[in-house]
Amino acid sequence: MKAAYYEGFGLASEVLKVGEIATPAPGPGEVLVRVHAAGVNPSDVKLRAGARPGATMGWPVMVPCSDGAGVIEAVGEGVDAGRVGERVWLWNGHWRRQFGTSAEYIALPSEQAVFLPEGTGFAEGACFGIPAMTAWMALFQDGPIDGQRVLVTGGAGTVGRYAVQMARLGGAAQVFTTVSGPEKAAHAGACDAAINYREEDVADRVMDLTSGHGVDRIVDVDFGANLDATRRMIAEGGTVASYASMGDPTPALPFYEFMFRNVRLHMLIVYLLGPATRRRGEAQLRGWLEAGALSHAVAAAFPLDEAARAHEAVEAGEKLGTVVVTV
Ligand SMILES: NC(=O)c1ccc[n+]([C@@H]2O[C@H](COP(=O)([O-])OP(=O)(O)OC[C@H]3O[C@@H](n4cnc5c(N)ncnc54)[C@H](OP(=O)(O)O)[C@@H]3O)[C@@H](O)[C@H]2O)c1
Repeated sequence: MKAAYYEGFGLASEVLKVGEIATPAPGPGEVLVRVHAAGVNPSDVKLRAGARPGATMGWPVMVPCSDGAGVIEAVGEGVDAGRVGERVWLWNGHWRRQFGTSAEYIALPSEQAVFLPEGTGFAEGACFGIPAMTAWMALFQDGPIDGQRVLVTGGAGTVGRYAVQMARLGGAAQVFTTVSGPEKAAHAGACDAAINYREEDVADRVMDLTSGHGVDRIVDVDFGANLDATRRMIAEGGTVASYASMGDPTPALPFYEFMFRNVRLHMLIVYLLGPATRRRGEAQLRGWLEAGALSHAVAAAFPLDEAARAHEAVEAGEKLGTVVVTV
């Protein structure tokens, strides 16, 4: 089969090749999926670049990308043969695994191929494994958000944009986001306030918008960079669900400030979402997809032959939405 692959970490243009590798066969409990689209996330490009903390080349050859969508073509022993022909979206394709989704085929455990409703395209389905599920996890894994005041930092990001929508769908009383300008505010979509974090004092504005209550939940794209605002606007009993801290990877924690407000800090990684919670998230996502309740943002699509350009588009950081590779 045709695949993008790398034999060592480095620049996309130097290490990412496209060529023939062996087509996998589904083992016991696995499905073989004909991939139609692979989602390229920051995590995938950091791994390929050798920039993910602690990562080593675990195999001599690796196929990049964890997210994808396609059609089940065959099943291994113990998997319901009725799944053949099912449209699916994929998660953790390249998490602690050699062969990811940037290939014509992937064989992976049956539960990592999730039913994709007919009305949702493959490119959109390739946005669910990391962006949509991280948003869902940050909002809901620590309990319901009905009636809460929620702040999503970076609402124009792949995760942030889903989080803004899901917070509204989840019954939040108020949903705020932070952005760096009008174009990002438009991309983030409808919410109660899009605050320009480069020009305004986010905490002051949030305290004002919530009549001094603060926010009950923060879905945070940069824990360290936003910490000063967080400590000033998190409500008593609030939860900070943070999925990155690139601005300051080792921030000093104001322990007692958070302790005396009974604040819960959750540094999360979607790859390790537990099975029962994951099933809950997948079911909720399916319901929203079938109801046509979610808008998706595919920033650009590159053919498999141009997988390196897809990685570079993610690294450039200017994209609005998820970059996909079409196969
Ligand atoms: N832990 C996990 O499971 C997990 C899951 C998904 C992603 N991530 C990580 O999360 C990060 C973002 O991923 P992504 O796919 O969402 O990237 P993305 O699509 O590039 O979005 C990042 C967004 O955050 C905004 N931003 C950056 N710093 C900000 C700040 N201090 N306050 C508010 N907004 C800020 C950026 O916009 P401006 O620069 O214009 O402000 C951009 O809109 C990456 O480091 C990725 O590896 C982690």
